Amino acid sequence: MTEHTYDLILRRGKLLSFDTDKRKILDIGIKNGQITAIKPNLNQSAPQEIDLEEKLISPPFVESHIHLDSVLTAGEPRWNQSGTLFEGIQIWGDRKKTLSLEDVTNRALNMLKEQAAQGILFVRTHVDVSEPQLIALKALLELRDRVKNWMTLQVVAFPQDGIYSHSQNKTLLETALEMGADAVGGIPHYELTREDGVRSIKRIFELAEKYNRLIDIHCDEIDDEQSRFLEVVAAAAIHTQIGSRVTASHTTAFGSYNNAYAFKLMGFLQRAQINFIANPLINITLQGRADSYPKRRGVTRVKELWQNGLNVSFGHDCVQDPWYSLGTGNMLDVAHMGVHICHMTGREEVNTCYQMVTTNAAKTLHLEEKYGIEVGKPASLIVLDAKDYYDAIRTRNKPRYVISQGKIIASTTPESTNFSLITAVFR
Ligand code: FE2
Repeated sequence: MTEHTYDLILRRGKLLSFDTDKRKILDIGIKNGQITAIKPNLNQSAPQEIDLEEKLISPPFVESHIHLDSVLTAGEPRWNQSGTLFEGIQIWGDRKKTLSLEDVTNRALNMLKEQAAQGILFVRTHVDVSEPQLIALKALLELRDRVKNWMTLQVVAFPQDGIYSHSQNKTLLETALEMGADAVGGIPHYELTREDGVRSIKRIFELAEKYNRLIDIHCDEIDDEQSRFLEVVAAAAIHTQIGSRVTASHTTAFGSYNNAYAFKLMGFLQRAQINFIANPLINITLQGRADSYPKRRGVTRVKELWQNGLNVSFGHDCVQDPWYSLGTGNMLDVAHMGVHICHMTGREEVNTCYQMVTTNAAKTLHLEEKYGIEVGKPASLIVLDAKDYYDAIRTRNKPRYVISQGKIIASTTPESTNFSLITAVFR
């Protein structure tokens, strides 16, 4: 039997740099799950070959912020009528009393499949660890292992109700890390007092050091311009020098700070070099609910953070749950909303929004050796029916092919519209 040099060859794919419009039409050779060649006109043959007809090849989407434990529960046990974060927390408080391993596993797995079909191969999920049985955590840790051949899942231990608001929560958070959560989370703006919020950040950094884990904190997810835990996170990152391992999620209050304070803070953030995750779909709906007019947009200063050299990514956050009843998990929907509400409509800015759901998010998740279209890296990539990144965000189509670790795990046939009636009428 002939031993082939490649298991799969993708022919005539378009590779495009983010910072210029430089395009290259190349073949990609894949062997044993790895990219082993990227060249024009590979002259070998492989058992499986696909002519991409100059379609765009992209690194896969990275979902840097989602809550898989609560996905697909919208309306259970009731709908969020006020549309606020805090009514969402109350509803989830009731829903989580009915969690079972099967319930969480089934919903999360359905979501992961839907995400994979949409080109997402790396997911960071928060999981509520203020539920005393830690059912959702057990389900997602087990699922992390079950899906690892086609999806990389990172689990953040997230104390949804606060670390110090209930007596058992501090222990539950540490137990979650002992059980194997990849990162430690928090919610300082929802602790009972400012002092407890500051104390919670200190505790998060202690745990991250003790268990050698990443940090991802829900930070200042509120319109209150006095919510200033971001400066506490930045200071802790400066003191410990672990900024690249730290993420501040949401930071929506940053959009409401006065400019004098925001300017000073930006300098501290540049020293801290922490990562940021904004969730434009969710925060445009949850925030601004206490405003009359003008209503605030409720997102952090995405454009300014990017302009100041900080790493920013976009997350979906919620899909059909007590906080957001819509969504399919599509990261192009997220980037599309980011373009609008962050005023990122310039050509370079649109490309940057694409990076916020791909390469920037990969940096936040520390995916270094697993991510990117390079020889020697795992063959995880997507093929889009789009001319370029701008066109991908504009059209928001599902990828034609999703390849994970060398295997085609999903393909989608594009829809086509028949105009026969119009043609008949206007002939
Ligand atoms: Fe969140």
